[in-house]
Amino acid sequence: MTPVSTAASERDRVIIFDTTMRDGEQSPGASMSLEEKLELAKILEDMRVDVIEAGFPIASNGDFEAVRQISEIVTESVVCGLARAGVQDIERCAEAIRKAKRGRIHTFLSTSPSHRDHILRASQDDILEMITGSVTHARNLCGDVEWSAQDATRTEQDFLRRCVEAAIRAGATTINIPDTVGYTYPSEYAEVFRDLIENVPGADTVIFSTHCHNDLGLAVANSLSGVQAGARQVECAINGIGERAGNAALEEIVMALKVRGDRLPYHTGIETQHITRASRYVSAITGFPVQFNKAIVGKNAFAHESGIHQDGMLKDRGTYEIMQPEDVGQGASNLVMGKHAGRAGFREKLKELGYELGQNALNEAFQRFKDLADKKKHVFDDDIVALVDDALASQADKIQVKHLRVIAGTEGPQEAFLTVTIEGAEKSANATGDGPVDAVFNAIHEVYPHAATLRLFQVHAVTEGTDAQAQVSVRLEEDGRIATGQAADTDTLTASAKAYVNALNNLVARKEKTAPARMVSGF
Ligand code: KIV
Ligand code: ZN
Repeated sequence: MTPVSTAASERDRVIIFDTTMRDGEQSPGASMSLEEKLELAKILEDMRVDVIEAGFPIASNGDFEAVRQISEIVTESVVCGLARAGVQDIERCAEAIRKAKRGRIHTFLSTSPSHRDHILRASQDDILEMITGSVTHARNLCGDVEWSAQDATRTEQDFLRRCVEAAIRAGATTINIPDTVGYTYPSEYAEVFRDLIENVPGADTVIFSTHCHNDLGLAVANSLSGVQAGARQVECAINGIGERAGNAALEEIVMALKVRGDRLPYHTGIETQHITRASRYVSAITGFPVQFNKAIVGKNAFAHESGIHQDGMLKDRGTYEIMQPEDVGQGASNLVMGKHAGRAGFREKLKELGYELGQNALNEAFQRFKDLADKKKHVFDDDIVALVDDALASQADKIQVKHLRVIAGTEGPQEAFLTVTIEGAEKSANATGDGPVDAVFNAIHEVYPHAATLRLFQVHAVTEGTDAQAQVSVRLEEDGRIATGQAADTDTLTASAKAYVNALNNLVARKEKTAPARMVSGF
């Protein structure tokens, strides 16, 4: 084998830029609380993501706070905030990343005729001037500046060249060429990069980046094509979440590069065994389920159903498997341990599943595990993931479900008797409803009156069997603020009550911390 020199290997390294918390959060309904973002930042850093785009600081106080606090806790990854071309945006972003060990300002401006004419009402010369002004200002505040040409793939190529040249001259260190509307095609996207890299003065001094939306289902293919043409940063999101049809899925990009090194001789620094955990966490906090047949992280991604496939697999895994579930942290949903398991073994299992908990969180999770093991015959890895995520999600909640009893069945009305604690003080109520879930949610309204509207109620079984835990996601909305809650329990109604209460806690916390809704139009 020919030895690869460090320089060559550095040249072939692809920077993974995660935008789950920024573009991903722009998916309608996918908002995340501050605590969830902090936890996600830790998961992304454990996974060795190179750049974490933590939010759009001028968009809301919540986004600002998320970028600021993530900048304080992340030590290895670059923490990046998004800013439009205006001075206020850039300064707010600089302020948010001020404490980051390695911070980045990501500033963008639309360049396409459609956006120039209909949104910005600006000429090409105006755009060039704004690029120079915004990037220069950002560079004066931060040494690491990324500039994006919004709607680049629908921009005249000669004008795009001039824009990129202006951004490089003004000091941009990364140039991002977004396919904002998911319109491009792999060979076409590659041509855009080749042309820019060959023809723009100074192109060899910057990193080119892809940012692809999935409107035609081509986001991953387009991103990889950009890499083949010389891009060395890929912007992507866990589970492919993002505006409209989403962004390129991080897990698909990373695994395509890893598995097809023969055709794609590039590498990333991602520790791929953290992928499944990240995917599950993002799914739980956003309430967006991962489709069963989703590449890499879907429940069926490594399942072999037909007899012919199973026979082949038993003889040699390579017959039908191009990568192994363990590579992406998908255990075979192993039976883990019974109720006699000790704390040390439980801690080891958590480590294996990618969790490092502090003493209090560990004690709480261990107690929940013991309770679960009392109720459920077999406790699987997926059960443990659900219960730990549940414990982490609710640990700061001021309102907690204490007791719940529900009368259900064919003779209505169904009735729920509920006791909660609100900052330690008990409060009880009972309510009827059109079905047991409705009765439970009405009882929550009685103990904690609120004006939020239920936007999502979703239940899925964590494992198989009638004693499986139900994992419930609830999304609430009030005054444009959206909050998601989650909980798991072998009793579906208890899980529903806890998920609703968790969402309510997140909504209350959000109201205390933020001004209403996002108010940025995006340009
Ligand atoms: O899709 C897009 O153009 C964006 C930019 C803000 C980078 O998300
Ligand atoms: Zn985007």
